[in-house]
Parts: sequence; structure tokens; C-alpha cells
Amino acid sequence: MFKGKNVLVMVTGSIAAYKATTLVRLLIKSGAQVRVGMTTSAQEFITSKTLSILSGQDVLTDLFIGHTSQVIHIEWARWADVIFVVPATANIIGKIANGIADDAVSATIIASSADKVIAPAMNDVMFHNPAVERNLEILKQDGWLVVEPVVGYLAEGYEASGRLPEPIDILQQADIRLRAKKGQLIGKKVVITAGGTKEALDPVRYLTNRSSGKMGYALARAAVEKGAEVKLVTTIDRENIFGVEKIIVSSTQEMFDVATHEFTDADIFIGAAAVSDFKPAKLAEHKIKKQADGGLQLTLVQNPDILKTIGFSKKDHQIVVGFAAETKEVIAYGTDKLVKKHADMLITNDVSNSDTGFSSDDNAVTILVPDQLPEALPKTTKIEIARAIITRIITLK
Ligand code: PMT
Repeated sequence: MFKGKNVLVMVTGSIAAYKATTLVRLLIKSGAQVRVGMTTSAQEFITSKTLSILSGQDVLTDLFIGHTSQVIHIEWARWADVIFVVPATANIIGKIANGIADDAVSATIIASSADKVIAPAMNDVMFHNPAVERNLEILKQDGWLVVEPVVGYLAEGYEASGRLPEPIDILQQADIRLRAKKGQLIGKKVVITAGGTKEALDPVRYLTNRSSGKMGYALARAAVEKGAEVKLVTTIDRENIFGVEKIIVSSTQEMFDVATHEFTDADIFIGAAAVSDFKPAKLAEHKIKKQADGGLQLTLVQNPDILKTIGFSKKDHQIVVGFAAETKEVIAYGTDKLVKKHADMLITNDVSNSDTGFSSDDNAVTILVPDQLPEALPKTTKIEIARAIITRIITLK
């Protein structure tokens, strides 16, 4: 999102000002060109020299120093594609909400039509002051993206809301929400399954597979980036993704119960989980002991088929997408599953390659849609594959 973008980071006077250094580093690492502005009070907490060295640019601290021919705040305001105000004090929030432009930071902000992100950080009583709440409401109405503070240890020595989120989380949230502003899935609910189901043998052992959940998480992220409400039904508890509700399950039966329930009012279902077709016929009450003959006979019975059940229950407006993990004749087996599971789209991936499919950060897939030619997506990161799949799903109806 920020790659190639001109990003202005405005730092104001909070104890959390030091976190702006990490934000600047992360933005530069992601490929953005970064400039920094600081209020006078921000410079009480961190020096402009630090941020100047990190950004490789002079830091804007004063409207009238060092510049002759250019109106500096107008030039910077025009240059910016995105402005971050991190951390934001009650003072700067009040100024922006009320159109006050009496220093370099507020004057630049008011002169810019860039996308704007603000992350308040202050004492909890200040944060809940009616004037601050009112001003933040105005900023939201004016199109500002407000990254809410989190509950945590404040400088005052107690736990409360008002703490600045970690810079990586601010960036992730800003990235998702800025993309979602123009998303074609606003107002749509997407249910996604991820991870390998676990079928318990006894209280300590289970049968499962090598799925890491990465493909499902990438799809969840790609769907929220398009503005969807996303429910991720997953056996693996990986990173939190802003806007994605994780529902952690374990067995196929649990995944089946949650996924079919969530699908009733959903618009799209994507089955990226590696679901176990079988489960032990009986769950041992106690840990299974070694047998006298050294072996163990297991009887397995069939699990419900989540994708097939959802595929055959879908209504006209609902889209159902499955995956097929194959090791040979990928297209033929995938086409067979597309039909048998009554899906609108099936994504095949060859899981015999160690650098794609299970657990890896990359994948290479072929998209199958009834009556259309297969569409191969060559090897790339799972998030890029997921974005391409979501874009393709949007074209289905
Ligand atoms: O999680 P990762 O490590 O990132 O790996 C990603 C992945 C390889 C697991 C993923 O890309 C993938 O291929 N998922 C589907 C794996 C699978 O179970 O394929 P299958 O061919 O066995 O099943 C076909 C489809 O039916 C799948 O959508 C599956 O979720 C669904 N299914 C299968 C059996 C069953 N009882 N219920 C189901 O819903």
C-alpha cells in the first residue's frame, strides 16, 4: 500500500513520540518516501535530529525557518499521498477538528488533500474527555482514519486505554482500511476456513495434516482489504488481522458447525482449510497404551463434507469457492471437485512442491470456473495469490 507513496509523519508531544521512529523505519522499509514534521512539544520528547537521520530528510518544525522562495507547508502538503499523525495529542486533535493552523504541523495538515491517519495517545481521562471525544468524532466525519488507542500500561503507572498501538499494528490497520475505502466488498460478509482440522484419538493425541493456515489468513486479509466483514474459521491461531474475526475450532465437526452457521447470512464462502475426510470411530477416554503386539488398529469413519454441504445449500446470491490440494492430475481432480461439491470456483494447488502449497509463504494455483478456461496464477506470495483470487471472485456476480 505504501510502496512508492509519499508519506508525511507528523509527530506531536506525547511520551509515545519515540514510537514514531519505528513507524518511519517501517514505512521506509515498505518502500515509501518519508518526510517528518514535529510540533514544538514533540521535540521535548525526541529530537528532530533522530527523525531527520532516520528519514534522510530535513524535519519540518517551523513554518518560517530556512526557506525563502517556497511556501514550505503548501509544498509538503501537496507532496504527501498519506499523512500519519502519530502520536496525536488532544491538542492537535482539537486543532485539526476546528480548523486551527497555527504551526508547521497543523498548517501543513489543513493544506493537504492526502489520505489522513491519526493515532491518539494520551492519558485515559484526557482521552475520554467529552471535548476530545467530540473532536475525534468530527475527524471521523471529515474522513480521517482514526486508529484507536489500546488498553495498556500508561506513563502514569497504571493500565488503562490511551496507549498508542505498536507501529506495525498502526501500519497494518491503516493499510487495510485505506484499501477498504474503495473496496467492492463493502457490506458483504465473507466466511473463510483455514488450517488443518484435528481429529482426536485420545485426550492427548490427534490426527491432522501440514496446513499452516497461511493461505486462509492471506485470503482473510485480501477480503478485508476490499471492505468485507470477514469471519475466519480456523484451527490455527496466527496473527490478528484488523477487521477479521477469528473463530478458533479444532475438529472437522466443529468447523462444519461454525462454517455452516456463519454461511447462512454470508455472501461468499471460501474453503481453504485442509479438512480431514476421516476421524477415529471412537474417542478413547484415556491415553491409549502400548498394545501387547506392538501395533494399533484404528477404525476411521467419514467426516461431514463442509464445502459440499455449503455448495448444495447456497442461494442464488451466494458464492462458494473451494480449494483442491492435489499431488497429480491437478486440473482433472480439481474440475471433478468443482462439479461434485457444487462450487462456483475451485482453486487447485499442487502440494507435492515444498516451496508452494502447505506451510510455505508462496503458492502457485490454477483457478477453475465452470465453462471457463483454467487460469494459472504463477508462483508468488500467498497474499498476492489471495488478492488475485478475491479480485476474480468479485467478477463472478
Ligand atoms: O494452510 P497452508 O499451509 O497455507 O496451505 C494451504 C493449503 C494447501 C492447505 C490450501 O491452499 C488448500 O489447498 N486447501 C484445501 C486442502 C484440502 O483439504 O483439499 P481437498 O482436496 O482435500 O478438499 C477439497 C475442498 O473440500 C477444500 O476446499 C476443503 O476445504 C473441502 N473439504 C474437504 C473435505 C471435507 N470433509 N470438507 C471440506 O470442506
